[in-house]
Amino acid sequence: MTDTLNSNYCDQPSQQVISRVVRNSGLVEEIYPYVLKLKETLSFQPNGHGRRFASHVHIDNNFTKKIFSLFGIDIIHPEPRFGNFIGNHFLNGAAVHEHTDPGTPGFHHVRCNLALQMPTQGGHPVLNQKITQIYQNDIWICFASIEKHSSTEIADGQRLTLSLGALVEKQKAENVYKIVNQ
Ligand SMILES: [Fe+2]
Repeated sequence: MTDTLNSNYCDQPSQQVISRVVRNSGLVEEIYPYVLKLKETLSFQPNGHGRRFASHVHIDNNFTKKIFSLFGIDIIHPEPRFGNFIGNHFLNGAAVHEHTDPGTPGFHHVRCNLALQMPTQGGHPVLNQKITQIYQNDIWICFASIEKHSSTEIADGQRLTLSLGALVEKQKAENVYKIVNQ
């Protein structure tokens, strides 16, 4: 009886370890060839010094769900403003300025970002005033409507990211936010 209880207990999702960054998932490598091909067909909008982005790119919904579930978020809704976007920093000094992004009533705007390419220096997200070291193939979560976010200036190389956007029920988003900041 005890054995049964123990094995059930271990299967509970609450046992999942959730952190700000997921490394070595294999999922970034899985989507990379598709994004590179897509990149050739998109028209990018400039959005600052050495920066461009293409919004509302099509990413398979099951893939997006798999990525969010890495962070314990299993129910997501489409984010209408940018959807999924590809971001590219291609000149030395390019960086994202500090900002937040709006959610909608009852929902937070949450982004899972995939590091497809990273420069030799910089390009690291600054989340809630803390620099988070990111390497190529990492995935990190940004609570875009909760926390101020920016990125450090790049040098020597390019930064290419795929940003998957979602609206997540407020209480759920705030619970996961608390966990990743512990
Ligand atoms: Fe943002």
